[in-house]
Amino acid sequence: MTTETESPIMDPISQSHSSGTTADLADAAPVATAPEPTPAPAPPKPERKRLAEVLVVTSGKGGVGKTTTSASIACGLARAGKKVCVIDFDVGLRNLDLIMGCERRVVYDFVNVIHGECTLRQALIKDKRFENLYVLAASQTRDKDALTKDGVEKVLADLGDDGFQFIVCDSPAGIEKGAFLAMYFADRAIVVVNPEVSSVRDSDRILGLLSSKTHRAEKGQRVKEHLLLTRYSPTRVEKGDMLSIKDVQEILGLEVIGVIPEAPEVLQSSNSGEPVILDANSNAGKAYDDAVARLLGQQRELRFTTVEKKGFFSKLFGG
Ligand SMILES: Nc1ncnc2c1ncn2[C@@H]1O[C@H](COP(=O)(O)OP(=O)(O)OP(=O)(O)O)[C@@H](O)[C@H]1O
Ligand SMILES: [Mg+2]
Repeated sequence: MTTETESPIMDPISQSHSSGTTADLADAAPVATAPEPTPAPAPPKPERKRLAEVLVVTSGKGGVGKTTTSASIACGLARAGKKVCVIDFDVGLRNLDLIMGCERRVVYDFVNVIHGECTLRQALIKDKRFENLYVLAASQTRDKDALTKDGVEKVLADLGDDGFQFIVCDSPAGIEKGAFLAMYFADRAIVVVNPEVSSVRDSDRILGLLSSKTHRAEKGQRVKEHLLLTRYSPTRVEKGDMLSIKDVQEILGLEVIGVIPEAPEVLQSSNSGEPVILDANSNAGKAYDDAVARLLGQQRELRFTTVEKKGFFSKLFGG
């Protein structure tokens, strides 16, 4: 705030104007005024080149494991040496910061950046485990319109300019604005599905949106889609209570990037703010590690997808 004792800061333009007196102005020759030209139509906004690969983690149905997946994929990519930012698009229901274990360090969020209330750098939370991993938390505001397409585009482009290689967008559930914006600029999509009919059906709607309502689709390009089946239980598939990998693959017609088993450690990991991929003893963690390797182009066999037959001794002694 400027106080009376402070001298006002003059910019060079206003100083040069103030050097003229009222008399100077009165003596000045009348200036012929040309008719106002009609304004030319604004040139199309030049498209900023995005350097980072944008990956959306999406699903139609809620509660299927998107945030769990976003956190593990982001950590896995960072562990592979990539510079990664994971963004929570779930305005009003932020969760990712908890699963990433940085909830106490959230000062500014994604909406603050978009509204110009802080810089992107101020809002990025650096992970304590990987120095090349950052989290951008969701806002707690109840205003679902707080995110804008232009704002999201600028943040993604700025992250690319800053050397980020992957941006993981954790989508909210459903097909409303937050979910639409999370997928709009995606280059690739990880469609998270539980092996049950309702989850598969809702994912089918998301696939429709990915191929019609995204920036790539509007340019006549495709968003590369991957299927990630999670909470998979081979025992329940064998009993006929769950859809098999083949069933889901046939219905959705997608290539499988990972199958994550149902595992109690997932909840424990989330509660302790350590994404399950970092738990070397967990089958779910190992399955996420395989999924990240496949995303990076490596070949890995699927694991934990068949019922483990108990050996003679474990049957005998109940091991
Ligand atoms: N492989 C798994 N095994 C067991 N539980 C899991 C597994 N994956 C996710 N869960 C559990 O499922 C619940 C929902 O997970 P998560 O929050 O990641 O889903 P979401 O799709 O992000 O939900 P929302 O749509 O509300 O954002 C959590 O309690 C999580 O611990
Ligand atoms: Mg979530």
